[in-house]
Amino acid sequence: MDLDQLAALRTAEGSAALAAAAEVAGGDPLAAASALRSAGVPAGLAAAALTQVELRRRAAGKFGPAAAGMFLTRPGLEQATRQVVADRRAERLRAAGVRTLADLGCGLGADALAAARAGIRVYGVEADPVTAAMAAANAEAAGVAELFTVECGDATAFDVDRVDAVFCDPARRKAGTGRRVFDPSAYSPPWDFVLGLAERVPYTVVKVAPGLDHALIPPGAEAEWVSVDGDLVEATLWCGRLAEVPRRATVLRGATAHVLTGAGDRQAAVGPVRRHLYDPDPAVVRAHLVAELADTLDATLADPDIAYLYADAPAATPYARCLAVTDVLPFSLKRLRALLRERRVGRVEILKRGSALEPERLRRDLKLAGDNAASLVLTRVAGAPTTLICQPVPAP
Ligand SMILES: C[S@@+](CC[C@H](N)C(=O)[O-])C[C@H]1O[C@@H](n2cnc3c(N)ncnc32)[C@H](O)[C@@H]1O
Repeated sequence: MDLDQLAALRTAEGSAALAAAAEVAGGDPLAAASALRSAGVPAGLAAAALTQVELRRRAAGKFGPAAAGMFLTRPGLEQATRQVVADRRAERLRAAGVRTLADLGCGLGADALAAARAGIRVYGVEADPVTAAMAAANAEAAGVAELFTVECGDATAFDVDRVDAVFCDPARRKAGTGRRVFDPSAYSPPWDFVLGLAERVPYTVVKVAPGLDHALIPPGAEAEWVSVDGDLVEATLWCGRLAEVPRRATVLRGATAHVLTGAGDRQAAVGPVRRHLYDPDPAVVRAHLVAELADTLDATLADPDIAYLYADAPAATPYARCLAVTDVLPFSLKRLRALLRERRVGRVEILKRGSALEPERLRRDLKLAGDNAASLVLTRVAGAPTTLICQPVPAP
C-alpha cells in the first residue's frame, strides 16, 4: 500500500470498493478480485480494497467493531495495542490529570485513539509516511480528528516541552524484514532515547515486550505486565509521577480487570506438594508476584525456582488456575504409562515448568487409551524431575 492507493481508498469510489470487497471477501481471493473487476472496480483499487477488508477482519479481535472502519498495514496491525489494553492505559493517564500527550512512534494509532477517546489531546509522530497517513485516517474514522493529529517525522526531534506526558511504544521489528528484535538496544526509536524521556518528562509511559529483562527497568519506575484471557500481551513502564507501585500484574478476563501489586522481590515459602496446585497467570509470574499470590492462597512452592504454588484447599482466584493433585510420581515414562492405562486415561493436557520434556513427544510415547481425562504436570519438586497427575477444579 502506498499513499496514492490509500488516497484512492478514501474517495467515494474507494468507499464503494471497500463495501463491495466486504461482500465478496472471505472465500477464494481470485474469485473475489474477479467479482470486483466485473463490477467495474479498477484492478489496483480492487486489490487494495480486498487487502484492507482482510486486515480489518483480522483486526476485529484487537479492536472490535471499530476495526471495520480502520486503515491498516500488516506490520502496523501486528504491533498495535489491543483496544481493551489501550483504553485502560488511557484512562489511567486521564485520571492522573494528563491533558496533552505525545505518542512518539504512534503507528496506526491504537494507543493514541484510546487517549483521544478519553479526552486527551494527542500529538502523534510517526516516521513511516503511509502509517502516519493511516493513523490520521483512523482518527477521522473514529470521530476524534480534533483531539488526535499526526505528523510524519522523527519522534526524537519532537519538542516534549509542548505536552504534559509522553507515550512511546518503540518498534520491536526490523524495518524492511519485519523480523522481531529482542534486544532493546535495537528498538526504534532507540532505547537510550526512550529511557531519556523519563528524565525529561515527569509523566512518561513506555510499552515494552513482556519478555523485558527486569534489570532494564529504570529505578523508581513501575513495571506492569498485562495478560488478556490468559495470554501475556505486553509490559508497560510507568515512570516519574505515574509510578504507583514497583510491580503490577493486570489480568484482564472478559470485561473484568484484576490487579495484583507488590515489590516483586519476595520469595514464596517452600514446602511439600499439597492437595491443590495453582498455575499462576503469566502476568503474575513475569511481574515476580508469585509470593504475593501465595499469601492470598495460603500456598507454598515445592521448588524455589518453579512458579507452581501448592495449597491444601481449592480457592477461586483470577490469578491462577487450580488443579487437584491425585498422584505425585518421580518422572518415569514406564510408570506413568502403566498408571494411566490402569486409570483408562485416553486424553491428557500437559502443563510444564522446569522440565525439558517435549509434551507432544511424551503424549505419543504414553500410547493413551480409555475414556477418562487427566492433566499431567511435568515439573521439579525440590530439584527432582516429577510428574503430577491432576484433575481440574471446576470454577465455583
Ligand atoms: C510498535 S509501533 C506503535 C504501535 C502503536 N502504539 C499502536 O498501538 O498502534 C512503533 C512505531 O514507531 C515508528 N517509529 C520507529 N522509529 C521511529 C522514529 N524514530 N520516529 C517516529 N516513529 C518511529 C514505527 O514506524 C512504528 O510504526
